[in-house]
Amino acid sequence: MLAMLGVLTTFLSFLYFTAPSIRKFFAGGVCRSNVQLPGKVVVITGANTGIGKETAKELARRGARVYIACRDVLKGESAASEIRADAKNSQVLVRKLDLSDTKSIRAFAEGFLAEEKQLHILINNAGVMMCPYSKTADGFETHLGVNHLGHFLLTHLLLERLKESTPARVVNLSSVVHHAGKIHFHDLQSEKYYSRGLAYCHSKLANVLFTRELARRLKGSGVTTYAVHPGVVSSELVRHSFLLCLLWRLFSPFIKSPWEGAQTSLHCALAEGLEPLSGKYFSDCKKAWVSPKSRDNKTAERLWNVSCELLGIQWE
Ligand SMILES: *[C@@H]1O[C@H](CO)[C@@H](O)[C@H](O)[C@H]1NC(C)=O
Ligand SMILES: *[C@@H]1O[C@H](CO)[C@@H](O)[C@H](O)[C@H]1NC(C)=O
Ligand SMILES: *[C@@H]1O[C@H](CO)[C@@H](O)[C@H](O)[C@H]1NC(C)=O
Repeated sequence: MLAMLGVLTTFLSFLYFTAPSIRKFFAGGVCRSNVQLPGKVVVITGANTGIGKETAKELARRGARVYIACRDVLKGESAASEIRADAKNSQVLVRKLDLSDTKSIRAFAEGFLAEEKQLHILINNAGVMMCPYSKTADGFETHLGVNHLGHFLLTHLLLERLKESTPARVVNLSSVVHHAGKIHFHDLQSEKYYSRGLAYCHSKLANVLFTRELARRLKGSGVTTYAVHPGVVSSELVRHSFLLCLLWRLFSPFIKSPWEGAQTSLHCALAEGLEPLSGKYFSDCKKAWVSPKSRDNKTAERLWNVSCELLGIQWE
């Protein structure tokens, strides 16, 4: 009995003393760039909570004019006023953007292009995770529609501005779960088979593939692009899964805060000399390994073609 108690206390004190370094390990890298952004224009999608809000806050601190593009303008405004106060920067603006509706994406782009002559940083941050099966206004499966096609169209519509504002960057939030993803060309909308976990993985693989293909197409244009795994971050994304919420609670010491989760996005948006790594995938502020499936140029090109068809756009 006493022996057991002894083992238990030893174990607990071991945990107690190692927890901070375990915590630090999971917290990952920190963006160390000192680049300031006066006069620079940033668009960030879904920045009203979590990683997006932390990213927006840091960019505003550095003096950029930051457009928060989100579905719920009221929530966006409350985040924006917090950021304005915290960053002492009044240039934080909220615009309506619903990535599950191409009409809304076009309206946002039209408005933005009319009011801004420059765009230096686009952060495709918004995303949905593990929702029950549903379709967007245009009939796309929601994960594919929002995480991939919505940002694809947005990037397409804003690309001219980026090219006019070089050096410019596009940062795409992906995830390590792209390793489990697969592009099912015969069933892109998951009508024959649907799993909400897998649908999320597929859409994140699509993000990595697109970053590669876009980087290839933008070579020499002065616009570079990066895909980011933010880490396992506590965020509202898990709201659709009870089990995930439970696991989150259990493992919370090992999970990044939104501030920590924002670091790799910031690194890719700001760090000097990153241009030769355009098209690459980053985790913990470092270039990271991608799955063989995301290195498949043919799949990347085919997905590009199919996406253009689905959206009815020409993108050479
Ligand atoms: C980012 O990902 C979206 C969705 O996959 C894609 O449409 C877009 O082209 C990508 N942009 C960059 C710069 O990688
Ligand atoms: C795929 O594309 C990349 C970047 O455009 C290129 O460096 C690589 O050689 C290509 N791989 C194959 C097998 O063609
Ligand atoms: C994509 O479209 C281009 C232009 O229409 C075509 O040349 C190319 O073969 C297509 N690639 C794939 C993999 O379907």
